[in-house]
Amino acid sequence: MSDTRRVRLRALAKLNLDLRVLCQRPDGYHELRTIFQTISLADRIEMAFTPRRKTTVKLDDELAIPDNLVSRAAHFALDAMRAAGRVEMRLTKQIPMGAGLGGGSSDAAAVLLALPVLAGRKLDIEKLSELAQQLGSDVGFFLLGGRAVGIGRGTELFPLPDGPAQKALVVAPGVHVSTPRAYRDLSPRLTSESQQNKIFSFQSQVWGRGVEWLPRNDFEEVVFPQHPSLAAIKKSLLRSGASMALMTGSGSALFGLYPDRNRISVALQSFGAVRAFPVSFVTRSRYRRMWWRALEEHITGRTWPPQSRYAR
Ligand code: C5P
Repeated sequence: MSDTRRVRLRALAKLNLDLRVLCQRPDGYHELRTIFQTISLADRIEMAFTPRRKTTVKLDDELAIPDNLVSRAAHFALDAMRAAGRVEMRLTKQIPMGAGLGGGSSDAAAVLLALPVLAGRKLDIEKLSELAQQLGSDVGFFLLGGRAVGIGRGTELFPLPDGPAQKALVVAPGVHVSTPRAYRDLSPRLTSESQQNKIFSFQSQVWGRGVEWLPRNDFEEVVFPQHPSLAAIKKSLLRSGASMALMTGSGSALFGLYPDRNRISVALQSFGAVRAFPVSFVTRSRYRRMWWRALEEHITGRTWPPQSRYAR
């Protein structure tokens, strides 16, 4: 009998419902305040693990992404578990890349969550968070899912209660925005005075969405002047009935929130050849159910992170 264990996973995308960049830190990263939200747009990952004395990681991804985070995540997880084996993965991308939607980060987090289950080992959330942080600033959020506040580098995460069911339209125009450059361009604008204001206005977003609810993404002020087509998409989203529209991450994707599906269908038509995806917000409880279902035959109970039934 084969000793290979297999699973099919969905790795969801995220939106930043608010994003403030405060200042550059001594470690070179920037101090953030953000609200993350998982959405229904997803990549697919098929993964097979076979225990072996020697580790080999093979990734079949149609785009042949260089130095893919997925392979790095597999090596990181196996090293941390002190396990060895053959890992074979196939990645089918749906989430536009380099768009601020967290696709690569989510794929990596999916590997961190699933591989210990297939390998019959336990990695607690503290260890997983440590590995996630080494892989990238957004990876840790996908160990949590739902809606969460991210502070520090974006890696200190605090869950927020899920909001009401929400439909959105994500527009990904395929404009390339360099994240390090966007941070560099923003740096001269970050003064200590605005830090205080930003913290208080961010706090008011998190506490409650009253009349003063004015979500911001600080990257818009440096990215829009370089790519006026993105500002035009934001306008189109608002004109087509979105209650709010914002860029996500450092771009270049934008999203609009709509009161119902019908408005989204109408809005979709105004984007012609530009890639646009109707999505819904995915709550933390749905996120976890999705994971438990995907890993069903390999886990014991419904715990978080999922625990392997093969663990001794
Ligand atoms: O951590 P990650 O690899 O996603 O970050 C990509 C780049 O974005 C970093 O090299 C850094 O230039 C910038 N960054 C930052 N502050 C953050 C997150 C990212 O300056 N909090």
